Amino acid sequence: MSTSTSAMESLLVENRVFPPSEAMVKAARVSGMDGYNALCAEAEKDFEGFWARLARENVVWNKPFTRTLDESNAPFYQWFDDGELNASANCLDKHIGTPTENKVAVIFEADDGTVTKTTYKELLARVSQFANALKADGVKKGDRVLVYMPMTLEGVIAMQACARIGATHSVVFGGFSAKALQERIIDAGAVAVITSNYQMRGGKELPLKAIVDEGLGMGGCDTIKTVYVYQRTQTACNMVAGRDKTFDEALAGKSTECAPVPVGAEHPLFILYTSGSTGKPKGVQHSTGGYLLWAKLTMDWTFDLKPEDVFWCTADIGWITGHTYVAYGPLAAGATQIIFEGIPTFPNAGRFWQMIERHKCSIFYTAPTAIRSLIKAAEGDAAVHPDRSDLSSLRILGSVGEPINPEAWMWYYKNVGHEKCPIVDTFWQTETGGHMMTPLPGATPLVPGSCTLPLPGIMAAIVDEVGNDIPNGTGGILVVKRPWPSMIRTIWNDPERFKKSYFPEEMGGKLYLAGDGAVRSADRGYFRITGRIDDVLNVSGHRMGTMEIESALVSKTDLVAEAAVVGRPDDLTGEAICAFVVLKRPMPKGDEAKAIAKELRDWVAKEIGPIAKPKDIRFGENLPKTRSGKIMRRLLRSLAKGEAVTQDTSTLENPAILDQLGQAY
Ligand code: WT7
Repeated sequence: MSTSTSAMESLLVENRVFPPSEAMVKAARVSGMDGYNALCAEAEKDFEGFWARLARENVVWNKPFTRTLDESNAPFYQWFDDGELNASANCLDKHIGTPTENKVAVIFEADDGTVTKTTYKELLARVSQFANALKADGVKKGDRVLVYMPMTLEGVIAMQACARIGATHSVVFGGFSAKALQERIIDAGAVAVITSNYQMRGGKELPLKAIVDEGLGMGGCDTIKTVYVYQRTQTACNMVAGRDKTFDEALAGKSTECAPVPVGAEHPLFILYTSGSTGKPKGVQHSTGGYLLWAKLTMDWTFDLKPEDVFWCTADIGWITGHTYVAYGPLAAGATQIIFEGIPTFPNAGRFWQMIERHKCSIFYTAPTAIRSLIKAAEGDAAVHPDRSDLSSLRILGSVGEPINPEAWMWYYKNVGHEKCPIVDTFWQTETGGHMMTPLPGATPLVPGSCTLPLPGIMAAIVDEVGNDIPNGTGGILVVKRPWPSMIRTIWNDPERFKKSYFPEEMGGKLYLAGDGAVRSADRGYFRITGRIDDVLNVSGHRMGTMEIESALVSKTDLVAEAAVVGRPDDLTGEAICAFVVLKRPMPKGDEAKAIAKELRDWVAKEIGPIAKPKDIRFGENLPKTRSGKIMRRLLRSLAKGEAVTQDTSTLENPAILDQLGQAY
């Protein structure tokens, strides 16, 4: 395990503090540190009572629960398990007959700038109609449905329609390859795929259905009965008779009313695949009741959502952020939200700022990578600077997915928030379902680059390798000591891996291991994430397993003998992927090396997806190994950074190859 020291060093020098304004404190739902502390005290005093109260107040139950937390089969915790509900009803039906029914639920802005507004009532009708289409084809409660959609309203409709009939969705991000899609279809045993002919990004028309066809063609996907194709563009795509149908065909003659199917609170709402420390992605399984509670509640707590807010989370529905803070949370909370199909740099890098002005966005939630790239763009071209747009509608800013460096934080705070909008730096994971640690806008004094404190009821702590608490000011391993409602329930098809990955015996088997290092400040006890302690990389906020990329590289058996992948810091993307490769042929030089590197990058794009392409590829005749044959990854990390190797190399079998691997071709 390694913890990055640079983040810890900056903690020592970071002493700027930004308390919330008095007006913000006064108007906030969780008001001041007193408000925050009162909730924490309630959770400490009566843990189950605290969660039961919140679950009664924030979720509409078809059948009320009588058991709050069942720990008898830990770590397979169950929450509210004898209660019944429907997630879609909690997002849509619940607003019918209230003033929210005619409120705009979604402002959709297409890649080309076309804007469409959909009210809650209209959205309910569209979701219900699609749910009826699924039902007509025999999709039923408990079935898995794979969603491979562009960032459009139809993607959210697909997810909600599944939830409505109790089908478990598994969304795959549009940047994953046919092979990745096929593996997920097989693992989940999906009965249907919901996709689109093409997707529009940055003015380009990119295929989606063709990738589905390729994935299904790879074999093993016989469980798939139907492929639904949303016609996003006019361009025709291949349609397989008897299997494929367009949305129009599927929806024809279907009623716009569909009774939501109540499911048990523990019923799997979705599976979302994410990277871990082995080559195989993990199907993170989430519940319905606990997940929905946290999606709704964190909208209220973290974003202090008010009825007049216009909320915008820029994440794609292919990631957990797009599940909780696009497809479920904002709807459960009755918000008006913006959904954006395109990319932040098209037609120019002022797009986000122009959209905030155009739609009077008041809560803006994005990733540090986006902020860093827009800083760079604004510094190079005044025309795309946030100053060119009227951002006065903003009241709260958010950051998610990776550590935000204090420089980017300050720029965001000054140039986007004009020093009046708190930044909620939300730390969480695919596995946690929703926010774990974050400042609250009307309570927590902000420190740039710190996610500050856990939400009430979240028992986060920092421990050593065997699970003992360690003092503030010392870096250690981030854990959560008690279960929480929106936590991962298991890894689909692999409960043993779930136990091993998240509740390791070495630490007593009771602590949830996040996989990150962290340190708490000596003065305030604020948390700062220092980075992953396993073999997981965070590239532009996208989670990638080094082993996954290594397996992809070595599967190119005609060329690659051995490969090791590590991360190195990158100013723009946070981390960059660096691959060390031993070829089954003599060391290439110059143009030949370049050509082989390109071939390997394209191969990885085909195996996993373009997002996994290594930025650097270094060739060597061997990898640095200990005498027992273990690859010395710490050493590779130094080489990737371009640092002189200062580690002890006395156990190294073959020191000469360090020179080779240290050189870019
Ligand atoms: C990993 C989880 C958060 C949902 C989207 C990403 C890193 C996430 C922060 C933050 C520092 C962060 C962690 C975590 N991370 N948020 N605010 N500060 N690091 O979910 O793909 O499951 O990745 O992202 O390393 O473990 P994910």
